[in-house]
Amino acid sequence: MKITFYGHACIGIKVKGVHILVDPFISGNPKASHIDINTLEADYILLTHAHQDLILDVEAIAKRTDAVIVSNYEIASHYGNKGFNYHPMNHGGSWDFKFGIVKYVNAIHTSSFPDGSYAGQPGGFVIEGEHKNIYISGDTALTMDMKLIPMRTKLDLAILPIGSNFTMDVDDAIIASDFLDCDKVLGYHYDTFGYIEINHQEAKRKFFDSGKDLMLLEIGESIDL
Ligand code: NI
Repeated sequence: MKITFYGHACIGIKVKGVHILVDPFISGNPKASHIDINTLEADYILLTHAHQDLILDVEAIAKRTDAVIVSNYEIASHYGNKGFNYHPMNHGGSWDFKFGIVKYVNAIHTSSFPDGSYAGQPGGFVIEGEHKNIYISGDTALTMDMKLIPMRTKLDLAILPIGSNFTMDVDDAIIASDFLDCDKVLGYHYDTFGYIEINHQEAKRKFFDSGKDLMLLEIGESIDL
């Protein structure tokens, strides 16, 4: 499984030759100006919720790639009504896609489309594929619900927000890592805006001092799991 960070909360996953893009917000992110959305491959686009800083590039990429848009019922149906391929889910539900099993899990956040219309409740994804399991929390507070995830799935990587203000901060992400029984964390949702700038060295040191590993990737950088 190959994981690529495309800036802010956008993650690319390649598993079993299938390309998955999560929460594509690239063209509006000045820090990601070297990423061209017209070259990104996507068989599936997973959306944790419908805020502008996650869905900005969904339609442009889905139009070009015919990707299947996977999200909660409200968001997936919204794109389905516009003629896009879609797969609706809701909290607690799983589906066996050809690349692996995806579960839509709880997040503590809000969800509305940029025009203010209702976009269901926000979530995160647990993805089990090619003998590797990852959790992409989406924008969320620290929540006890995270303790439920390792009861079903032994995680190899947790992708967690660390920017605070709109989501968890670094210290809560360390507690989340305990709840998830996963010491390997990829941080996201930081530095994009003034509200969520963090000190990288301090964040990494805090994880290190807790016996955990925080990865902060350059935008466009990948890791292999
Ligand atoms: Ni959000």
